[in-house]
Amino acid sequence: GAVGKDGYRHYMEKELHEHPLVIGQTLQRMVDPATRKVVLPPLPCDLATIPRGVITACGSAYYAGMIGRYWLEEIARLPIDIDVASELRYRNPPLTPGSLGMLISQSGETADTLAALRALKAIGLPVLSVLNAEHSTMARESDLVLGTVAGPEISVASTKAFTAQLTVLACLTIAMGRARGTLDEAGEDELVTALLDLPGKAAEVFSHQADIRKMAGIVAEARDVLYLGRGSAYPVAMEGALKLKEISYIHAEAYAAGEMKHGPISLIDRTVPIVATIPSGPLFEKTLSNLQEAKARGGRLLAFTDEAGAERLSAIAEHTIALPEVHPFVTPVIQTIGVQILAYETALLKGTDVDQPRNLAKSVTVE
Ligand code: G6P
Repeated sequence: GAVGKDGYRHYMEKELHEHPLVIGQTLQRMVDPATRKVVLPPLPCDLATIPRGVITACGSAYYAGMIGRYWLEEIARLPIDIDVASELRYRNPPLTPGSLGMLISQSGETADTLAALRALKAIGLPVLSVLNAEHSTMARESDLVLGTVAGPEISVASTKAFTAQLTVLACLTIAMGRARGTLDEAGEDELVTALLDLPGKAAEVFSHQADIRKMAGIVAEARDVLYLGRGSAYPVAMEGALKLKEISYIHAEAYAAGEMKHGPISLIDRTVPIVATIPSGPLFEKTLSNLQEAKARGGRLLAFTDEAGAERLSAIAEHTIALPEVHPFVTPVIQTIGVQILAYETALLKGTDVDQPRNLAKSVTVE
């Protein structure tokens, strides 16, 4: 049936507000409430012994995959190759036999991702797909589907499907870590607790919407915006920059914060705002020193941090958003909601067609 906007101005706004719901629904599917263990359906491979994983996707789903790579490598010690589907499908990489193919798609119909799926299958790899559309072409052709329970996503720019993808990838990481012996029982419990905490924390992000709107006032005036982050906050910066480009038509570029000195630092002045995704955690100090360098060159800093990082950021940033504090594992989920709201608020100020941005399609079924 037809999906309404439920009183929201745009589907995108409605779907942003569904983040807590879809994270919760996806967790319900993947975590047994009695044992608090991640439960996966039977897999097309042995997680304990697979030598590598290869992840592919397009657009926002690709950035979800990048965050998945940080998690799978760090926590489950599984080496990951990752590439956008339009590259992977033609580059004939020498993939290790026995590797697990993993693809991520909201629609399950994106032409490049589907072609990459077929290429992986053709060389004999089992394929696990993280899909929102469970009756799609990719669903039919995959060996295993892990569903994101995000419901229909109408806005062309993806929002809730992204955090649902992260939720599935986080659960997959926990199951992999257990199978590979890199995560003990206490470790698993700690990460599951962090996930179960997320719906409530995600809902709290919206208490910062008015402050994010003030930030958007600066972004909306800019021609170019630089997004910076490190570790799993780097793909979040990429997702933030993509969303801004898609719906506000402002040029934005994401850089790994440590790489700024190798190029984009030459662009920095008052006219190029810098959006930083900087949660507290192991990489906080490193990112902070990159931001201090940017500040010293006249950059205007707009920071997404959390309660623990807020005081340090307030000293240098023009706007600091103190997002709810969560376990470092799940900070990319909370940070993503922040940068997506920033893109939305900026698009409102620009007066663009938020749900149907020019030249973009919800599902790109041509190459
Ligand atoms: C299009 C959409 C993006 C989406 C991408 C991949 O470009 O505008 O929001 O991330 O396709 O789509 P998929 O359905 O494969 O996730």
